[in-house]
Parts: sequence; C-alpha cells; structure tokens
Amino acid sequence: MRALPGSARVYIGITVAAAGVIVLTGPYTGIDIRTLVLAAVLFVVAESISTIVVADVKAGISPSSAVALAAVVLLGPVGAAVVGFTSCLAIRRHDLIKRLFNGAQFALVAYAAGHVYLLLGGEVGEPGREDFPAILFPYTAAVLTYTTVNLALMGILMWTLGMVRPRSKQKFGWRPLALAEMTSVGYQMLGLAIAAIWGGAGIIAPLLVLLPLFIARWTFAQQSHEAMAHEATLATLCQAVETKDHYTRGHCMRVAEGSAMIAQELGMPAERVQKIRYAGMLHDIGKLGVPTKVLQKTGKLTDEEYATIKLHPTRGYEIVREISFLDEALDGIRHHHERLDGRGYPMGLVGMEIPESARIISVADVFDCLTSTRSYRKAWSVEEAIAELRRCTGTQFDPRMVEALVRAVEREGWQTPDIAEPPGGCYGPPAAGPQKTEATAVGENSAVPAPTPSEDTVPAQDTVSERKRRDVPGASAPVPASAETVTGGRD
Ligand SMILES: [Fe+2]
Repeated sequence: MRALPGSARVYIGITVAAAGVIVLTGPYTGIDIRTLVLAAVLFVVAESISTIVVADVKAGISPSSAVALAAVVLLGPVGAAVVGFTSCLAIRRHDLIKRLFNGAQFALVAYAAGHVYLLLGGEVGEPGREDFPAILFPYTAAVLTYTTVNLALMGILMWTLGMVRPRSKQKFGWRPLALAEMTSVGYQMLGLAIAAIWGGAGIIAPLLVLLPLFIARWTFAQQSHEAMAHEATLATLCQAVETKDHYTRGHCMRVAEGSAMIAQELGMPAERVQKIRYAGMLHDIGKLGVPTKVLQKTGKLTDEEYATIKLHPTRGYEIVREISFLDEALDGIRHHHERLDGRGYPMGLVGMEIPESARIISVADVFDCLTSTRSYRKAWSVEEAIAELRRCTGTQFDPRMVEALVRAVEREGWQTPDIAEPPGGCYGPPAAGPQKTEATAVGENSAVPAPTPSEDTVPAQDTVSERKRRDVPGASAPVPASAETVTGGRD
C-alpha cells in the first residue's frame, strides 16, 4: 500500500471498511447458510477463471457477476454482499490490496443491487413460475445498479491512481471499460436463470446455465491468444523497420493506433478494425528493402534514391502478402501513398479506386508525421496538423477519414511521441551548402508534378509554413510546407 498515492490509499481503506461493516454486521436473519456457502464457492470459482478480453484496459469479464446477481435474488443484499466479498479468495489474484479492494468492490455493488431489487418489489428466495414476469423489473434494475456502481467504484479508483485527469490531453479510454461492463450485463441477466432453477438443480444450477458460456469463452480466449501472437509478430516486424529508420521511432504503432481510431469512428466491425490496425503497423514494412543510408539521409535525395523509396509500398506488399490473416491490410500497405487526385504512388489510383484501408492509413500516417519531430523540423501541434489535413482533403485525403480522425482525437486525445533522436541530436548540424527540404526534393525528383501556384493548396500552405518558420527556434533550414511534402513521401 506504500507505493500507492495517498488518495488511493484512503479510498481503498474506506471501500474495504464499508464492505467490512456490511459483512460483519449483517443482519443474517432468514439467510439460508447452505445456499450462502454454495453461492460463495461458485463465485470464487467463477472469479478464478476470468479471462482478460479487453486488452486496452486489462479488464476481465467474469461470469462471476451472474452468480452475484443470483445471490441477490436467493439471499438478499447482505447475503449477496458476503458472496461478493469472497472475490478476495480468487486464486488468480496475488496482491493483498487488490484482493481486498476487489472483495469490497463486489460486496458493495451486490449490496447496492440487492437493495434496489428489494426496493422495487423483488422478493428474496427461489423465484417460482408465479413470480414471472413481475420479477423482471426489479431484477433488471438490480443488474443496472450492479453495473453502474461497479463502473463508478472503478472510475474513482482510476482517478485516485492518477489514471484519469479531468483536463488532461491524454484521455482515459472509458470506451473499452464501458464495453466490458456492458458485456458483463449479458452474464448478469443469466443470474435470474440460475436463481430460478436453483431449487431443482441446487449447486449444478450455475453449471447448467454457465457451462455452454464457459466453453464459448474458452474458444474466444484461444482466438484472443492467437490475435495477441499475431500482434506480437507484427510488432517485431515494426521494430525491424524502425531500427533501420530511427527517425520514425514508434511511428508504425502510432499509425496503427490512429488508423484503428478512424476505423472505429466509422463504425467498422471489430474484425475490420483489427485488419486496418495491422495495416497501420506494417504500412512501411517495405522500407526493409530500402538501403539504410537512403532512409537516414537528411538532405536532398537523388532521383534514384527517391525512386527506391517510392518502391516501399510495393515491396511491403510483396514481403507480407503470404500472411493470410492480413487480408485487406495488404491493400492498405500497398496503397497508403496513393492520393485522391491520382498523383500518388505506386499506381496513381484516383478517388474511391483507392482501397478504404489505404485512405485511412494515409491520413493516420501523415497526421503522425506532422505531430512528430523530424531531423529537419519540430513537431506540429495537433491543431495545426488537423488544419493541414483538412486543407488537403479532396486532393490528397478522403474528407470522411480526416473528419473521423478529428472526432476520435477530440474525444480520446492523441499521444504525441517523444522527440526523435537522430544521430547527432535532434537538431544536428545543418548539412553543408544550400539546404533543401524533403518537400523540394520530392517535387524535383518525383514523377509526381509539384503543385502549381494555381492550386488551392498554395495560400494556406504558406500560412502554416510561415508560422512554423517562426516557431522553430533558430531554424535556418526551410520548413516543409504541406502534408504532401512534410512527409516527403518517405513515411
Ligand atoms: Fe510509407
């Protein structure tokens, strides 16, 4: 407890004390001890086999809540609180503080749910046929109370631990936590079924109800482990690219994150979100085929060097195309440098010819480039980067993807990277002779024509670039002007 912040210690202490008072003082009148013991044993078993299914928040969804809600009906608030408190005996937790807090947490949520159940007309004991459908109302209210109080207790704990800050740019991921809670509601509704058959089936009642779910969960857990193994493999490939191109440290994972945020915002199913996330992780895998000296070059690229860099989407596709689970991620890797106006590469696809996954990655890729420090410029602010993305919609980016990213970033925040440390320091000595930005190099070396003054990109481009020139302390080097040129087509 010594390592915890003072506020967390106080909060945990109050929670445990409150639960302790309920468990110690009862009253236990009218509670069937045999039912209490059986329910407690089942609760501990269910808690012990919880599977982590929401990796982002490391939240476990446990069928134990079904047993706790069954206890609400069979034993009332105090009995349910005792059953909940036995969570601290679950074999999967070893830390005493965590055990005590979880025990107290489940005791309090079950106690609150029990009182709401009684308040709304629910009766304690095995429900009979005559209790239906009237029992559904108080039982559903008890389930909602259980979920809400549980979320509130967890939220306060996160806050006292410093994981949630009201005005922090880095927002806490409430969405997956709430999703986990909502999934638990499904289990909790089964508590009524357990209570209903308790009289006839006794201790095997939960097994009859939950066994099919346990099997489904086991299958799901296997899939989850497989997905984690896939992710670990891809992360290793990511790291291989970043070892080679260390100006882009962490870039692949951030692009994966940004791409997943866009896909989620567009309401894509989880499976597609995952594929797009994979594509984000591997979008630059083809750089493994680009000579290191070209990737790490800070000055002007020769025609030949730039042509080599432009091959990386195709090379990337060729490297990973045999990995079957990547599926539509392959399109994202192959076409992430295409532009809506057809001036991208490798194929010069136009508009909606560009696969959706590639249009997503393109936005996330440039957004991360703009908000990252490179050897030739400081990072742009999130606001400046968003303005730049918006300016380039219609010509370079799909506006739907840009706006989806903006909404997701406004809601969830964006973790900008630490300053990159290229050889010689962040702002190493400028190259001898007149410096050219990558932007200029791209414009000159590329088969893609440079923007003409008549294009609507020019005025706004000047505004941002002029501001950035002022913002870079002591900057003598020209600052890349637009999204299409800031990345220089290298990222
Ligand atoms: Fe790229």
